[in-house]
Amino acid sequence: MGSQRFLEALGCRNRGRPPVWLMRQAGRYLPEYRALRERYAFEEMCRQPDLIAQVTQMPIKRFGVDAAILFSDILLILETFGRTVRFVEGVGPVVTEPIRNGADLSNMPEGAVEETLNFVAAGVRQLKQELDVPLIGFCGAPFTVASYLIEGGSSRDFAHTKAWMYRDPVSFSALLDRISDASIRYLKMQVEAGVDAIQIFDSWANVLTHHQFSAFSLAYFQRIVDAIQPMGVPVILFCRGSSFYAEQLAQLKPAGLSLDWNGSLPQIRRSLGSDVALQGNLDPQLLFAPTDVVQRETQRLLDEMSGDPGFILGLGHGVLPKTPLESVSALVDSVKAIECRVGK
Ligand code: CP3
Repeated sequence: MGSQRFLEALGCRNRGRPPVWLMRQAGRYLPEYRALRERYAFEEMCRQPDLIAQVTQMPIKRFGVDAAILFSDILLILETFGRTVRFVEGVGPVVTEPIRNGADLSNMPEGAVEETLNFVAAGVRQLKQELDVPLIGFCGAPFTVASYLIEGGSSRDFAHTKAWMYRDPVSFSALLDRISDASIRYLKMQVEAGVDAIQIFDSWANVLTHHQFSAFSLAYFQRIVDAIQPMGVPVILFCRGSSFYAEQLAQLKPAGLSLDWNGSLPQIRRSLGSDVALQGNLDPQLLFAPTDVVQRETQRLLDEMSGDPGFILGLGHGVLPKTPLESVSALVDSVKAIECRVGK
């Protein structure tokens, strides 16, 4: 039962302590990850099923979190469009041949998702043999993935993305359609390989106006939820801006929402009712505070959401690369301390 509490909470029927896992829990803040990274490039690590399985399990082994998230990246899907993504130290992702308009889009090739990304399915299959907690698969939402393809990497102002969106929304939507179709195939492959839940990351949706959010974020979340949830696998939606858009996101009927740290979870719970799981929403910067502050803030959220059968404790965004390990332990241990008190 213990290992299933994450899925129980996603179904809003968890009676024990809340489950805990963190976005970006497998990454550079872990010394065992950095040690492996000295031997392999990130791109290489994403390609080898053994390494995928090893890195995915690092935070489970170290902290005992209640769910694993597949070690991979949202940008690998761009390889199905003939692009190469490199992750450059100190720069971030660099995408070859960015596209900027409808003509570029018509020239963009389309490979078979299943063949191009078969190493991801192999990693999932291996993990399913080794893990005793649920495995979360994922993809980026079309808007966020498109922004990297258009900008050629990370961006501050999304100038090329916004320019295309305003100038020619029809071909911009056609790009999102293509990414969405590939993402659905990619997620189906992950589900068939054995993932227990899916999370979709629209990390940059907060740069959209609310009209654009409906057209370019919500509409695609909807497509993906409608394609994947009927396969029997719960879907969690994450975007920056999720507290602000919580009601619209809940209308898509995902199993769960992953909330940024701007909103109050008890208030969001009251406005949404009890049939959607709520995940979050501590500030990732909290983990740079002294341990007693981490414990106090975690406890405050636990108290606020006490007894909620659909609550999953996590961060409002990913673990930052320089996060101290003691803070993550303090957070996870604060949640687990409840186990002793309620006896589950
Ligand atoms: O632990 C996990 O959450 C699982 C693996 C995972 C990674 N990236 C590994 C990674 C997941 C779920 C992601 C998602 C991802 N990737 C998002 C959405 C989530 C978010 O944080 O908003 C985005 C926007 C990306 C794109 C990306 N990948 C960027 C911008 C960067 C460079 C900057 C950074 O945060 O490191 C990456 C690289 C990346 N993805 C690393 C890891 C562990 C670091 C690679 C390294 O070792 O240098």
